[in-house]
Amino acid sequence: MAESDKVFAGSIPKFYDTLMVPLIFQAYAADLAALVAASSPGSVLETAAGSGVVTRALAPKLRADARYVVTDLNQAMLDYAVTRQASDGRIEWRQADALALPFEDASFDVVCCQFGAMFFPDRVAGFAEARRVLRPGGRFVFNVWDRIEENAFADDVTNAVAAVFSHDPPRFLARTPHGYHDVALIRAELSRAGFADIEIDTREKVSRASSAHDVATAYCQGTPLRNEIEARDASLLQLATDRATEAIASRHGAGPVAGKIQAHVIVAAG
Ligand SMILES: C[S@@+](CC[C@H](N)C(=O)[O-])C[C@H]1O[C@@H](n2cnc3c(N)ncnc32)[C@H](O)[C@@H]1O
Repeated sequence: MAESDKVFAGSIPKFYDTLMVPLIFQAYAADLAALVAASSPGSVLETAAGSGVVTRALAPKLRADARYVVTDLNQAMLDYAVTRQASDGRIEWRQADALALPFEDASFDVVCCQFGAMFFPDRVAGFAEARRVLRPGGRFVFNVWDRIEENAFADDVTNAVAAVFSHDPPRFLARTPHGYHDVALIRAELSRAGFADIEIDTREKVSRASSAHDVATAYCQGTPLRNEIEARDASLLQLATDRATEAIASRHGAGPVAGKIQAHVIVAAG
């Protein structure tokens, strides 16, 4: 993973929350919140919470006396999340690296993480850290994207932007968000981190937007793909976005667009 892959700062939180979240994150957040709330946990830790889409879905489902600690590596994402969250005395916001959690052993009933594990530089260490802070019998509930070819818009954007920088194509989307999809590897790494009971469910959904332009802007300007494009030539950010818009419009139409998305939803315990 490149260093810039984990930087969600500057203009990214706003574009991410307003365009990326409704496009691909909201539907999976509803699933994850339902899975977490199913056991009526008294304490929940969320890692890599980003701009808070899961937090907004989960908080209303938790017990009135629940403790809900919401963390992310990038303070800029948490700052944005706070502005979107209704006032809630059960929520504690805290900047934290999922690989070095500032919490005691055995302090949560559930650890949840939506589309964050792909960013962990060492997955086994990140999973072991989640397990360390779980009480005996606690659950680690998380999801990861399936391969990029199963996620239509991400694939289209990657190919279109590659044509703009043919000498050195930006590969952020394939390398990181869509770079951890092998279920055998996920099982093996969870086992190495100490989890014994692992369930993996692959879920397909549809991603919708009002225009190809919204999709292209979301991926090119609301994710660390933006960092990669700007590192090559910041003046080409708009051209790259325009090329991605044209590619999506040519495959999915000029008006409202829809494309397949697919992810693995994982519950690990033991
Ligand atoms: C694709 S976003 C997902 C955010 C949110 N969970 C959602 O569903 O919209 C990935 C998030 O992982 C965070 N992140 C990256 N590396 C991290 C780490 N080592 N520990 C905690 N968070 C991390 C980023 O700041 C970013 O907010």
